[in-house]
Amino acid sequence: MAEMKVTPWEVKGTIDYDKLIKEFGTEPIDEALLKRIKKHTKEIHHFLRRKIFFSHRDMNWLLNEYEKGNKFFLYTGRAPSGHVHLGHLIPWIFTKWLQDKFDVELWFQFPDEEKFLFKENLTLQDTEYYTKENAYDVIALGFKPDKTKFLVDTLHAKTMFKEACKVAKKITFSTAKGTFGFSDSTNIGAIFYTAMQAVPAFLPSVLKGKNTPCLIPLGLDQDPHFRVARDVMPKLGFYKPAILHCRFLPGLTEGGKMSASEAETAIYTTDTPETVKKKINRYAFSGGQATVEEHRKKGGNPDIDVSYQYLRFFEEDDKKLKKIYEDYKSGALLTGELKNIVIEKINAFLKKHQQAREKAKKTYDKFLFKE
Ligand code: TYM
Repeated sequence: MAEMKVTPWEVKGTIDYDKLIKEFGTEPIDEALLKRIKKHTKEIHHFLRRKIFFSHRDMNWLLNEYEKGNKFFLYTGRAPSGHVHLGHLIPWIFTKWLQDKFDVELWFQFPDEEKFLFKENLTLQDTEYYTKENAYDVIALGFKPDKTKFLVDTLHAKTMFKEACKVAKKITFSTAKGTFGFSDSTNIGAIFYTAMQAVPAFLPSVLKGKNTPCLIPLGLDQDPHFRVARDVMPKLGFYKPAILHCRFLPGLTEGGKMSASEAETAIYTTDTPETVKKKINRYAFSGGQATVEEHRKKGGNPDIDVSYQYLRFFEEDDKKLKKIYEDYKSGALLTGELKNIVIEKINAFLKKHQQAREKAKKTYDKFLFKE
């Protein structure tokens, strides 16, 4: 297995989350924090119950402020470069839950220049197209139109650029190199980019003329941007944003994360039911035994089985999930049967999502931030 690597542009190898907590200097989400969150949300999302959201920065501070009446806003994002896959949806599904439970604003960034700068063959026309395509997926998840604002970097440059310059002035090339691994051949747009990703974490404070706490739910690969931003923001007079990190939905074939750069490892929100079935049957890594007899005798290993891992994300019912785990482990449930369960679950989810996505095409403009 390849050595673990987790950066905003590359995730590979078997991910050791405990090690990453130490390396990144974050804190695990423990029972005490879950209890504190539950006090406000009344229930605990299955992503929290199952430690899919497993780590954080400054959540206790954020809740202290909230309890004093200092409401936070949510911030997350998507760099358009292709269609959205199921992995991208994980932080957003959770963000929607937080918006509902805390009744707060969400600022959603589409840095449409990011992947243009980082990917050789991607044009600005491509990213313009995918910005809308991806925004439909975000809207389809049910965010409140009156409490959700989309920032598209090239469209909202007038508001964002000045703020990004303030951030950029406080970040040296040496810090950027150390954090992101840049070299002398990295283009200078890519080096500047992190300043743009910092902006939405304090833009609402600028616009409201009041320092407002910010909470960012994200996949762990995006944390390095905010490690840098958290150092800079107090220097500009703003709070450091709090962060909630989620684990990666694995790719179909191996460890690591579902990734758009390896198409056969990803299930896209635009895939048809037949494609989903074919991909899972053909590629989903199995923890089952080589033959039916052996499987019945020895049982399978759900902990490494990709189909079972997907059910941890998409089957909300704890009892159902537990039974599948036990039946697979004992050998009562075969790999083919487990694959059928996950195919059905994902296709049911996508059927609803795709209907909502069609409707979203009409409401896109409503979500755009008005300068
Ligand atoms: P991007 O477009 O690569 O990914 C969008 C979000 O999806 C998360 N993600 C995953 N989460 C779980 N499992 C996976 N397999 C998986 N793959 C991707 C990413 O961690 C991310 O949260 N630079 C950012 C865009 C951005 C952003 C932000 C993200 C701008 N501002 C603020 C988070 C918060 C990017 O390229 O994300």
